[in-house]
Amino acid sequence: MEFFDVALRRRMTRRFDPSPIPDEALARLVAAGASAPTAGKTSGVELLVLKSPERRALFWDLASDRTWREDGQESAGVLAAPVIIVPVADPDAYVARYARPDKVSSALAGLVAGEWPVPYWIVDASFAVMLMLLAAADASLGALFFQLHAPSQTVLAGLGLPATRVTIGALAVGHPAVSTPAD
Ligand SMILES: Cc1cc2nc3c(=O)[nH]c(=O)nc-3n(C[C@H](O)[C@H](O)[C@H](O)COP(=O)(O)O)c2cc1C
Repeated sequence: MEFFDVALRRRMTRRFDPSPIPDEALARLVAAGASAPTAGKTSGVELLVLKSPERRALFWDLASDRTWREDGQESAGVLAAPVIIVPVADPDAYVARYARPDKVSSALAGLVAGEWPVPYWIVDASFAVMLMLLAAADASLGALFFQLHAPSQTVLAGLGLPATRVTIGALAVGHPAVSTPAD
């Protein structure tokens, strides 16, 4: 698909088929996300890929309201996604990067994370997500970026990440569910 078509045709998918996506397709999607620009070449965003049923179940337990999960109407189609990708940002990496000598003239040099007027780790995580949304569309896969119902640190800590990491939400990826005439 031409890039312009990918950009214009991309839409969020909220009904996934539970079938797995090929490893190669997932690797390409993650490679697209990992190619995103990062402020000061900090590379302070990692992409946590959750594929196993156990890890995905843990994620949904941590990240979503039980009422939403059990309602089924909206949630069933999203919970079926075979892959969840969580962009995990490390604000400390950005603070350390902008404290280096080549950034001494930056207005960000010496600021603690809470003082950054534009938190670049949030920008970088967003760019990575956008590239993965586009890569999914290019591969005719469905993808949904969604907010977490629980605090970022609660979810990440539950997944075994350090308390200093933050996220902006998560990406569900999979084959879109095929519509039936009854839909
Ligand atoms: C920051 C952000 C947060 C979003 N959160 C959710 C969400 O929690 N659940 C959801 O179903 N869609 C979510 N979306 C998807 C938007 O609702 C969707 O992009 C918008 O309706 C436009 O539709 P389209 O992307 O299919 O063109 C989010 C999108 C963005 C950019």
